Amino acid sequence: MLERLDRIEKEAAQELRAIAAEEALQTWKVKYLGRSAELGAIVDDLRQLPKDERRAVGKRMNEVKTALEATYQARIETLRQEALERSLREDVLDVTLPGRPLPHGRLHPANQTMRQVLAIWAEMGFQVYRSREVETDEYNFELLNMPAHHPARDMWDTFFTSDVGVVLRTHTSPGQIHVMRERAPEPIRVVLPGMCYRYEQITARSEIQFNQVEGLAVGRAITFTDLKGTLIAFARRIFGKQVRTRFRADHFPFTEPSAEMDIECFLCGGEGCGVCKGTGWLEILGCGMVHPTVLANGGYDPNEFTGFAFGLGPERITMLKHHIEDIRYFWANDLRFLEQF
Ligand code: PHE
Repeated sequence: MLERLDRIEKEAAQELRAIAAEEALQTWKVKYLGRSAELGAIVDDLRQLPKDERRAVGKRMNEVKTALEATYQARIETLRQEALERSLREDVLDVTLPGRPLPHGRLHPANQTMRQVLAIWAEMGFQVYRSREVETDEYNFELLNMPAHHPARDMWDTFFTSDVGVVLRTHTSPGQIHVMRERAPEPIRVVLPGMCYRYEQITARSEIQFNQVEGLAVGRAITFTDLKGTLIAFARRIFGKQVRTRFRADHFPFTEPSAEMDIECFLCGGEGCGVCKGTGWLEILGCGMVHPTVLANGGYDPNEFTGFAFGLGPERITMLKHHIEDIRYFWANDLRFLEQF
C-alpha cells in the first residue's frame, strides 16, 4: 500500500509539471485530490489493515496528500505568475494612443449659416432681437402698411389659427414694429432671426417653414446709400470679397423705395446656367427704406427719422453655398444629408 502511495505521489507530480493551463490544473485536482480520487479509495482499504500497519500507512497517506496540495498550490501560483508576465510582455498598453472617438453631433446646416449671418451683422453693430413666431394680423400685416383686403397680402399665403386675428408670422417683418415700439425714439440697429410659415405647396424651391433674418436700422439721416453700402459689405463677407452685386427695383408695402439685391451667379460666373435660370444673377434678399407709415406706427416721427430694412433667407444662402438643389432636405432629417456638413 505504501508503494501504491509512492506511485500516486510520483505520477501526480509528473502530471502536474506537464500542466500549462489552469483548466487542466482543475482536472488534475479532481483526479488526485477530489472526492473519488485514488487516495480516497486507500482510506477505505486502510480499515482492513492491521493496527500497526494502519498507523504507518495513514501517516504516509497524509504526507502524500499534504505534499500534493502544496505542489498544487505552488503550480497554480506559477501558472498565474507566468500568465501575468506574458500579458505584461505581450499586451503592451500604449498610454499615448488616442482614446476611442465618441460620435459627436454637429450643427444643422441651417443653423451654421444662421450663426455665420448673425456673427457678420454683430460685427457691423447689429444686435440680435428675438421676436415672436405667432403674430396678430395687426403686426403681420396692418402695421406694415397692409390694411385688410390689401392686395399685397396675397404675397404671403398665411396660416391662420382658430383664434380670429392670430396668424403664424409669414415673415420676420412684424418684429420691426415690436423693436420700434420698444426703442422709440432711440436709434435702432438690429437683426431679427427666426422661423416663418407660409401656407404653400411644398416643392423643391418652397417650404411651409423656413428661417428669415430681418434687419432694421432707424436713425436720423439714414439714406439709401447706407442701405446699399451695408448690404454690399454683408454680401462680401458671406460670399467672398470678389462677389458682384446689383440692386433691382421691387415693391414691398412697408418700404419705399424697395429693392431686391442679387449677387452674380458663382456657378457660371454670370454667363447664365440652370441655377440662375440663365440670368447670371441670384436673388438674395428684399430690402428698402422703411415706409413713413411704418415708422409712424413704430412711434418714430417720419419727418425726423429714416431707416432701412431688409429680409434675407439663410436657407437660400446655404443652398447657394453648398449647391443644394432641394429645400425639402432641410427639415427632412435625413442623416445622409445632415452628415455632409
Ligand atoms: N418681409 C419681406 C419678405 O418676406 C422681405 C423684406 C423685409 C423686404 C424687409 C423689405 C424689407 O419677403
